[in-house]
Amino acid sequence: MSEIQKWVDITQFLSLKKGEMIDFDYEDKKIMILNLNGEFVASDRICTHAYVDLTGGFLDESEKRVTCPLHLSSFDLKSGDALNLPAEKPLRIYKIKKEKNKLFILI
Ligand code: FES
Repeated sequence: MSEIQKWVDITQFLSLKKGEMIDFDYEDKKIMILNLNGEFVASDRICTHAYVDLTGGFLDESEKRVTCPLHLSSFDLKSGDALNLPAEKPLRIYKIKKEKNKLFILI
């Protein structure tokens, strides 16, 4: 079954400071929004290895990766790829766009 995607307004997160990540729930999705040196990124926030919230993990802005606080798998925040075991499945990365003074995520 294919899902219809839509742009959702997340302008409220424009005030997120560099290096910060915050949780954002939308319908059944558990998402996190990150500010990587001024660039906004959105991904799922539940580790693909076990049910752990990655907003409690470690963000490396220069390498654009987040590391799970439980077993320390890192995920590339551009591709979503799991970079080391035990996580093997990628994290879902969402498209994000900035238009005028608004921020949107494609969900
Ligand atoms: S729960 Fe994240 S690496 Fe195990």
